[in-house]
Amino acid sequence: METHVEHSLSAEHLAVGYDQREIIHDLSVRIPTGKISVIVGANACGKSTLLKTLARLLKPSRGTVLLDGKSIQSIPTRAVALKLGLLPQSPTAPEGITVADLVGRGRYPRQGWIRQWTKGDDEAIADAMLSTDVLEIADRPIDELSGGQRQRVWIAMALAQETDILLLDEPTTFLDLTHQFEVLDLLVDLNKRDQRTIVLVLHDLNQACRFGDHLIAMKDGAIVAEGNPSEVITEQVVQDVFGLAVKVIPDPVAGTPMVVPIGRHTTRTDQPATNGRLAAAENPAAKALAASAAANGICRPTDR
Ligand SMILES: Nc1ncnc2c1ncn2[C@@H]1O[C@H](COP(=O)(O)OP(=O)(O)OP(=O)(O)O)[C@@H](O)[C@H]1O
Ligand SMILES: [Mg+2]
Repeated sequence: METHVEHSLSAEHLAVGYDQREIIHDLSVRIPTGKISVIVGANACGKSTLLKTLARLLKPSRGTVLLDGKSIQSIPTRAVALKLGLLPQSPTAPEGITVADLVGRGRYPRQGWIRQWTKGDDEAIADAMLSTDVLEIADRPIDELSGGQRQRVWIAMALAQETDILLLDEPTTFLDLTHQFEVLDLLVDLNKRDQRTIVLVLHDLNQACRFGDHLIAMKDGAIVAEGNPSEVITEQVVQDVFGLAVKVIPDPVAGTPMVVPIGRHTTRTDQPATNGRLAAAENPAAKALAASAAANGICRPTDR
């Protein structure tokens, strides 16, 4: 594939939501071209919402996403798909489709209306399947795969699209540790070889620090810290973003920040909690909330 370093992706004053509920209120971000950026943040803070908006899957109610300097809303779908690929957090495959067919769909944007297959298509598909270790299961239907196998097939499809910009929402979910590192190492290879711009959502902060050039920490639909891993992953930021007390020490292999949660128990026989947090089951306010939910019949079927 050709190398392009001039591509760019940014957002200005985005507001995005679902129905009446606004999740992102006024977010601006410039994704560094040719680098790996990692978005981190607690569940439901808006990471996937941001990624989908950057990929034009969600339309912002205010603000603009700029792809190569142009409003992404004004660029036709196929033209967007030639520049930018997205692996969503929970993709769904057509029923009965095989691995090879699904990966092949990554080539559709390149094939025009009559879908003429070229040698380039075959090579890109084989290459993507080889790097994600799914060649051996090429003929199997997606529905019959394990969670990790399926995840690798989706990554293969995104790779086969051969876009300059690749957005991947939690690509390591379901993968065993070996495959997690294989996928992340592969993304670094692609980034180094082709200067591709890669944006990942990851929950593992240590992996985020190891593999990200640029980290973006989100909380409540806003960016609260941005920069290189040592600027972003500090004990204060982790406490603020995740409400978790941690120690941050240098990763013994890479030297990047490594997060060690303090938690309430350090071993099965230790003294409880040094950070003052109570388990939900011991917390009077949480117990009162659960009692009131039970009294209101929270789990009762509504059709009775
Ligand atoms: N399709 C939808 N319709 C309505 N609300 C949604 C929809 N998708 C997400 N939300 C809400 O938007 C908020 C942000 O969700 P989002 O998926 O962006 O979070 P996230 O940071 O990716 O979380 P996670 O780490 O769990 O993947 C949540 O409160 C969620 O319930
Ligand atoms: Mg998400």
